[in-house]
Amino acid sequence: MNVNGTDYRTVWMEGPSVFFIEQNLLPFQFNIQEARTYSESCHAIRTMMIRGAGAIGAMAGFAMAQAALEAPEKDTLFFLQRARTEIESTRPTARNLFYAVEKVFNQALTSPLLAVAASQQVANQDAADSRNIGRFGNELILDGMNIETHCNAGWLAFVDYGTALSPVYLAHQQGKKIFVYADETRPRSQGARLTAWELKQAGVPHTIIPDNAGAWLMSLGKIDLMIVGADRIAANGDVANKIGTLEKAIAAKEFGIPFYVAAPTSTFDLDCHAGNTIPIEERNEDEVLYQDGITEEGLHKRIRVCSPGSSAFNPAFDVTPARLITGIITEKGIIKATNDSIRDLFSGGIAK
Ligand code: MRU
Repeated sequence: MNVNGTDYRTVWMEGPSVFFIEQNLLPFQFNIQEARTYSESCHAIRTMMIRGAGAIGAMAGFAMAQAALEAPEKDTLFFLQRARTEIESTRPTARNLFYAVEKVFNQALTSPLLAVAASQQVANQDAADSRNIGRFGNELILDGMNIETHCNAGWLAFVDYGTALSPVYLAHQQGKKIFVYADETRPRSQGARLTAWELKQAGVPHTIIPDNAGAWLMSLGKIDLMIVGADRIAANGDVANKIGTLEKAIAAKEFGIPFYVAAPTSTFDLDCHAGNTIPIEERNEDEVLYQDGITEEGLHKRIRVCSPGSSAFNPAFDVTPARLITGIITEKGIIKATNDSIRDLFSGGIAK
């Protein structure tokens, strides 16, 4: 994606180092960070300097490749297995992380060079899949539509293009007059900070709405289509995505608004037969109790926004049941959120 005239990917590997856009600083500072070791890459994922299913998948794959490069000649297997466990423990919900680590680990057993090649392949595939999701999703977007999205499933959340926002960018490039309502997405405000920043860079007309405004806008007929991303999709079509997605899906069903999930096949987990088996990450209460931002003088500040002495519960994802989902936009086509359609998707049963 283009930022101030330069094309960037969210994350890439050069030599033994991984470079990535530091997302905790956005939208106030655009900064490229370097992770020199697999442990530094783990730290970046854990602290959400890099986040979003596809982006952490790519970073995790690169981390596994770094571990292969760092492995000693003696006890190589032990080192690789320990590194794999460490990388996989950084964040539990996004399927792409486990998908990438497995692919790269299998090659690392043969040679570090093959591991690096596999990690580059995972990242390239993520970008290509996102692009194709844009092509299929664009067919759902008509001139004049108002689209709501939750969290950030744009290019920052993947290696490039994004999933939920990829169709939006293509529709905008084709001259369709569209307007995007970006859910703020408390507590980490990925919508207010990242989606809004991305849309501004791309010149897509948009506004930020509080998380609790979606249902009201839908009831007023102001939303024509909702597209969200996914962190893990079970074999029956249940979808884990950023906390707050479930209530949007319920509201969309109530008001008859098409509710689409956009995700590559690397986000599906056929070992999870239903959404209730997807591990849901719980994050630190401080993300709810405190907010950080920038003062009018340009100073970064962290302030408490909740009553002192109260605690907070902070689940990072929820699960939307398949029955509330109109369709899933994949890189191979748009499918129904059902066991049969997902089985067909993996057996090559739908047209590219
Ligand atoms: O906690 P995050 O920011 O890594 O959350 C993942 C997500 O980006 C969202 O759930 C998104 O909607 C899924 S698509 C990457």
